Amino acid sequence: MSQQKILIIPGDGIGAEVTEWGKQALQAIGEIFGHRFTFDYALLGHAAIEATGSPLPEETLAKARESAAILFGAIGHPKYDNDPSAKVRPEQGLLGLRKALGLYCNIRPIQLFDELIGASSLKPEVLRGADILFFRELTGDVYFGQPRGRTEDGLTAYDTMIYSKYEVERIACKAFEAARLRRKKVHSVDKANVLDSSRLWRETVNEVAKDYPDVALHHMFIDTAAMALIKDPRQFDVVLTGNLFGDILTDEASQIAGSMGMLASASIGDSTGFYEPIHGSAPDIAGKGIANPMASILSAGMLLSYAFGLHAEAAAIQKAVALTLKQGWRTGDIADGNTPADRILGTAEIGKKIVENIIQVTQAVAA
Ligand code: IPM
Ligand code: MN
Repeated sequence: MSQQKILIIPGDGIGAEVTEWGKQALQAIGEIFGHRFTFDYALLGHAAIEATGSPLPEETLAKARESAAILFGAIGHPKYDNDPSAKVRPEQGLLGLRKALGLYCNIRPIQLFDELIGASSLKPEVLRGADILFFRELTGDVYFGQPRGRTEDGLTAYDTMIYSKYEVERIACKAFEAARLRRKKVHSVDKANVLDSSRLWRETVNEVAKDYPDVALHHMFIDTAAMALIKDPRQFDVVLTGNLFGDILTDEASQIAGSMGMLASASIGDSTGFYEPIHGSAPDIAGKGIANPMASILSAGMLLSYAFGLHAEAAAIQKAVALTLKQGWRTGDIADGNTPADRILGTAEIGKKIVENIIQVTQAVAA
């Protein structure tokens, strides 16, 4: 493969600590499989506000546009969470980049590693075998709908929940395509009993479904879906939903996988794809060297697969993470009462183990 430019955007909080290991995983893959990855860095979010005054500097956008793929860390700073009046906010950087790059399709796999079945607060018998692929629409909905704002007297505020047909069609197609390669089932989640935008959503998904007669389509209201997800997660294969509902449901679903620290995501669309953990900036543990880098490493795996079509390389990353867990290594967030203290590692220590295991699992294949 020719040289591929990968842009690393560490962002805020634990972002820098975890993306370092996503990058090292990519470097190891590059060396083993003979790919030439080059890396550049850019600022986003609070880090960018501090340095430039803007959460999405022009330079970041320009670098993003000319990269083959982006590995992102996390966004957010507690300073803004308790200051609703702040006009410039870290999250605007991430949302602005999603919009500017046309990343309308956010893919979030909820993958349960056997070894972590005890790390979830849900019962093992409810979880075992759960495997869900979320398709969250990412550039529409109440996140971007206009008008939004406050009345002059400051006493009323409003956002607009809005979807156009083409926005629903394009993400629905992606979800049905993916379902075809899996268990051939799509659950579309909306609130069509109350919301007009959801009624358009449902109507459009029904139309798209006609092109996929081999895939079973179920509709579910968001409230029911929130309940069903923890009652019986195994009933779901592909879940298709809008931006806001998808934001909430995927955080909930992360508990099926044991920890937010395990979940990767890919955002794809019109141009450069964006690969990021679903966890946030975790300011409470930032800089302590204890964050779980697995979601970043698994995001690097999704990058290899979706951006470059390097499926064997992506599989090696998956296997290396699974092997590391099998060997008993944990970070604090995925340790449980039975984890011996000497098996709980910091970010760099477990990152190194995973990189070693990338080498090991690829040698096993070559041998
Ligand atoms: C996510 C995050 C973002 C979102 C925030 C940081 C803007 O929660 O990627 O799920 O709401 O989309
Ligand atoms: Mn979220």
